[in-house]
Amino acid sequence: MSINLKSLSVLAAGVCVAAFALQANAQEPTRLRQAAEGLFLIGNAAPTRAFSDLIASDILAQDFDRLTCENEMKWDATEPQEGQFRFQQGDTLVEFAQKYNMKVHGHTFLWHSQTPNWVFQGPDGQRASRELVLKRLENHIRNLMTHWKGKIQSWDVCNECFEDNGSPRGFSPWRQAIGEDYMEQAFRIADKVAKELGEEKVLLVYNDFNMYKPGKVQAVVNMVKDFKSKGVRIDAIGMQAHWQSNDDPDIATIEAAFKAYAGTGCKIIISEMDINTRNGFRNSGRGLERDDSVQGNADASADALAKRYKDVFDLFVKYHNDIYAVTLWGIGDSWSWLRGGQPLIFDGNLDPKPCYYSVLESLKKGQKELKK
Ligand code: XIL
Repeated sequence: MSINLKSLSVLAAGVCVAAFALQANAQEPTRLRQAAEGLFLIGNAAPTRAFSDLIASDILAQDFDRLTCENEMKWDATEPQEGQFRFQQGDTLVEFAQKYNMKVHGHTFLWHSQTPNWVFQGPDGQRASRELVLKRLENHIRNLMTHWKGKIQSWDVCNECFEDNGSPRGFSPWRQAIGEDYMEQAFRIADKVAKELGEEKVLLVYNDFNMYKPGKVQAVVNMVKDFKSKGVRIDAIGMQAHWQSNDDPDIATIEAAFKAYAGTGCKIIISEMDINTRNGFRNSGRGLERDDSVQGNADASADALAKRYKDVFDLFVKYHNDIYAVTLWGIGDSWSWLRGGQPLIFDGNLDPKPCYYSVLESLKKGQKELKK
């Protein structure tokens, strides 16, 4: 058989063109993780069962580069009885994250919820003293930070400590046991332990819901200023972002909060994002709660949700210099703690919804701007 050089070179050119086309395609991000590169980390919250679910774990590895345990690093999961630590479920997430080169966010040290009662009880059955509760908090923080040394890049030190109007959360057992300086003490302890472990780079975070409400914004800004004036380290502010689909909160309100938080020198983290589409219900720190004023989202359609996701992601892109990470609170709608509100970007079958693509487009556009 004679080799026709001309046809060979045509073939070679064809291969080159095809390879080039493939490369061009490869450069166009098709998944969120790639599209968010250079803007901010893009995260998800996963329960342990996600890692034995093929579709869920494939989504996590391809679309996200940061993981948070939905429940498995909370106090009731990690230290159900005093001094008896359980790390196995958290380890499952950390190992997955390491395998796929993802960052891990620790959630959470001090919270009024999902914390066992023994933490606040004294040996005599009475309320535990300030000293005892602080000692327990320090022991808890030291054990968790030591166990996951080098594997966790940020920790929620305090979660949900303010009311919407900015006053300290009234019924917090932490506040009752330790006193008004309980958050400051928690940050001091976390910083001290981080230093002991050579983990100064681990970000220490304050996290809360309704972080766009002016009273809360002011209270958190004041707290950060107070901490900084006393040399207490705080690195980032977590806005949970359990929001509504009906422009609630509106973009201008979210933007005002971004400006205020960025002004403190802290990084901003969108830490638990989901967008409720259910009329007459509002996302609260406790789940979907009846609220008849939430009627503006009469259009709870997939397209309306896609637009809402696009609007907020366009804003995140605009503030990408101030934002460290954006984390969605769950994989698909049937996995969500607010499943009745169908709030996520994958549906109950883990198929992408139109809002998945609007988030992807918003990130891609942001990335193109960066490269200009
Ligand atoms: C939720 C989890 O998603 C649920 O599975 C669990 O039953 C309750 O907690 N604010 C937080 C999160 O900081 O830890 C909460 O997560 C949602 C509200």
